[in-house]
Order: sequence, then structure tokens, then C-alpha cells
Amino acid sequence: MKLSPLRTIGLLTAGIFSLLPAAALPSAPIHQEAAIIPQPRQLTQIPGQAGFLLNGGIKVDSATSHSEWGRAAIRALMAAGFNILPEEATGELRVEQAEGRPAGSYRLECSPRGIVIRAADQGALHAAAQTLAQAATIDAEGQPALPTLQVEDHPALPHRGIMLDPCRHPISVEGTKRILRLMARYKLNRLHWHLCDDQGWRLEIRKYPLLTEIGSKRSESSSWLDQSIKDGKPVAFHYTQDEVRDIVAYAHSLGITIIPEIEIPGHASAAVTAYPELGNRDCPGFAPEVVTGWGVFTHVMAPGAFTFRFIEDVLTEVCELFPQAPYIHIGGDEVPRDQWQQSPAAQQFMQQHSLTRESQIQDYFTHFCAQVLRKLGRGMAGWDEIMCAPQLPPDAVVMAWRGMDHARIAAARGHRVILCPIQSFYFNFPQGKTPEDKFYTGLHGFDNINWQHVLGFDTSVPGNKVIGLQANLWSECIPDMRKLEFMLVPRICALAEHAWLYGAPNRPTEEHFSTRLEQHIPYFDSLHLNFRQEDGTPRRPEISKP
Ligand code: ACM
Repeated sequence: MKLSPLRTIGLLTAGIFSLLPAAALPSAPIHQEAAIIPQPRQLTQIPGQAGFLLNGGIKVDSATSHSEWGRAAIRALMAAGFNILPEEATGELRVEQAEGRPAGSYRLECSPRGIVIRAADQGALHAAAQTLAQAATIDAEGQPALPTLQVEDHPALPHRGIMLDPCRHPISVEGTKRILRLMARYKLNRLHWHLCDDQGWRLEIRKYPLLTEIGSKRSESSSWLDQSIKDGKPVAFHYTQDEVRDIVAYAHSLGITIIPEIEIPGHASAAVTAYPELGNRDCPGFAPEVVTGWGVFTHVMAPGAFTFRFIEDVLTEVCELFPQAPYIHIGGDEVPRDQWQQSPAAQQFMQQHSLTRESQIQDYFTHFCAQVLRKLGRGMAGWDEIMCAPQLPPDAVVMAWRGMDHARIAAARGHRVILCPIQSFYFNFPQGKTPEDKFYTGLHGFDNINWQHVLGFDTSVPGNKVIGLQANLWSECIPDMRKLEFMLVPRICALAEHAWLYGAPNRPTEEHFSTRLEQHIPYFDSLHLNFRQEDGTPRRPEISKP
């Protein structure tokens, strides 16, 4: 890949520089062009101009540090890695709140005289700070500096996310924070946290301690390649509520909101093992256990008083733990009906509620969750199977994973839609056919989801119902951070660009993206990331191969 000139997409006026005192020292000329991912809507930089010398940090005057908006900008800049130097008189940063501009939009000007940020909201402040962090470079004399540049930018979608699955394999608090930092760098602002599944319940719930005392433990795990091969290593892992609060606050400091997912009514083996009253105990051979293999399992919640009280209690604690989440994800995918067919109690429930098909029991659960969440002041999101429910509340957010057809149906029915089609945004699938791709991911499923595919996949949906795009990183085959990083990077960059510029005309070409991506390698290396290189090999293959 060779460097090509960064396109200047638009030219901005530079009038607001006059607001800054001429205090800062100019840098020597800067020849490196800023390679920002996602590409800003408008970016102007003339290589060879002097820039802003980062002389130990950005000086901030007391007026800025005493205003609420100024402090918010300082926090965003620090979260993006800048050092802030308090100053009494002269400052190098001016921040303005841009009322009435579209959500997430910001305008950024940087020159030898300082930095001016006009941002519509907190998310926009974070985006501006990350643009600056990505633009940071060294000048012709080798000093850290920011180029003279002007940016006008806004995201297409309010939900730009990654889904993490610590159920199949644990992801530590530190590991989660590492991923959050990487997300923030690329302006991804939603972590969808899949906190319970058949293989483990990972979230402490005070009212139901057995969920973690029993439900977070399994005896061993299957090999992803061959389910009959077990590793014999017990797994016991959950996040305490204090850890969750810590992660939520950390995410917030980076401009990221966490959307928790509680799987209802399926993928419930761990919950039912902890509290058998949640399950269909009158089914022949009822013997739940926290599952050691991968797939879809028969244990689903029983439609009964204990279960509905459980759901209400759990969702209440979840809403307390995730105060910023606008919607809570209730799962709803892959719900087998076998137990409801076999259970006399479930059949009686159907009769009492005039339900004629077992699938309507799931619809009942979906409506119940929507009602509980509405009482708690939250919206509801779920996998696209929740659409089966007749009169699904129109404000339910549908996460379309089974393909774009489901996204288009949900949008046509008036639902807000988050796109994560399996064909392109399941980052658990391989990025190619190299031996390393096989080793890191197993042989299953699609094997062509490289960054080019993520960038170029057709995600168009008629109308304006798409509110988000996210990648799902299921962890059956991802036992550690080395593998996780290989699966995430650099696809995360393509995801970020696709989401930021969703539906925009004249999106940058694949070649343009590739040129910018290459310039992010030093950043990946600075984090010691085991990213997938262009030839398919891992950058830091320290984990031993079996
Ligand atoms: C899913 O992949 N079952 C949402």
C-alpha cells in the first residue's frame, strides 16, 4: 500500500482563530497528513504548514477550566490521551457549545495559535478529541505537534457498537477497559454487553445470589473445532456490581454507553441451573446444568409467577446499574419450544391466556419485558426474533442479526433498527482462509469477513429507521485477549467508518481507507495489539498453537 494524498473534502473558514490569544509556540512544518478513521465529513490540511506544538500538553486557562462545558472538553481530551496543563492567563484551547447543530456534530480548528472546538454535545466533544488524538504527530524537528487543520464532522448513526460475550469465555475488567479504549479511539459509542447465556451468568444480582454462585461456574469447555474434546478446565467468572459500576463509569468517561443484555426467555441454562424454579421442571428428564458446549439448548424459562417476578427484579437491578442505557436488551433469539410443548404447566398457561401456539409464550415474555422496562423508564431492544410478537411495541428497537431482510422488515414495520447482519458483522467468523485464520477462529461459518467486506457490505435499508450498526464478537472460539484482538483489529476500523458514514454519498474508497489504515499500525503497536496483518498473520502470536 502506498500513500496517496489525503482528500480535502471541503474548505472551512478560519474566522474563529481570532478568539485565541497568540500565545502558543508554532511547531516546525508538519509533512505527515492526518489519517483519520472514520474519515471526517470535511477535513482540510495543507501538508508542510507549521502546526501547534504540544509543548508538554495543552495549556488551559482558568476561564475554560471553570466553565462546565470547558471542563467537559478537558475531560474528553484527557480521555483521548492529552496532557492538560492548567494556566492562569493564556490558554490554548477554546471550547464552544454549538446549540442547534445535529447530534454528535463538531467543528474543530487547530493552528499554531491553538485549538478551537465547537461541539453540539458530549459525544461530539469526545469525537473532536479523538480526531485530534489521531492527528497528533511529530513536526519536522521531531517535536510532538498537531497539524494545522480544520474539520467539520458528524456521525450518521447514534448507535455505533461492539457486542462482547464474556459468557462463553471470560473477559476481565482490564480486558474490557482495553476494548473500550480502542472503541473510543474509533468513535464507537455503544458497548452491547451480553451478560448471560447457557454457558454462564456473569452479572451479580443482589436479589438472586445463586445466579453467580452457581450460574457463573461450569466444569470445563468444549473445543470450538470439536465439541467432543473438552479441556477439563473449570470456569468461574462474574462481574461484581462494583466492577460493573466501575466499567460503566469508565465507559462513560470515554463517551461510551453500555447496553446490557439479559437473555429472556432462551439461552437460559445457567439461570435455570441456579434457580430450577425458573425452568420447566415438569418436563421429562429435567436436569439443567451450566453448559460446557456451544449451540442452542433446550432450557428456556417457564412462564410462571416465579419467572415473571425474577424478570422484574433482575431488570430493576440492571436499570440501576446502567443508568445511561436508553434501552435494555432482552435477548429473544433462538428460543426452542420443545420444553413448552412437553410441560403441562406451560400448556396450562397457554390455555389460561388463550394462546394457541408455543411461540406465543415467547411473545408474552417480550410484552412483559417491554411493560416492565417502560415502568422503569427504559426502552427495550431485542434480537430480530422479537418481531414475531404481534403488536410489538412500536418503540422496541430491533437488532437485525439474521440478515438484511430482517432489518428491512423491521424498518417497514416502523421499528428502529440496529444492523449486525451475520454475513458481515459477526467478528467471530474468519477474515480469510489462511492457516492462522483457521487457528484463530475454527472452520465454521463464513470465511470472508475481512475489513474490506465490513467496509463495503450493502447495509442499505429504505427509509430512515436505521439507528445503529454494530459488530458482534461471540466468544466460543475466543478464549483470550490475543485471539480477541486478532478478531477485532483492524475490522473495528472498517466498522467505525461504515457506521460513521452510513448512507453518506461519496464515501472514501477502499484504497483511501487502506492508506489511512496503514498509518494506524504504529498506534496498534503502541498498545501491543495482536492485530491481523494484511497477509493474514497475527502481529504478536504469543499464544501457543495446539
Ligand atoms: C445470535 O447470534 N444468536 C443473536
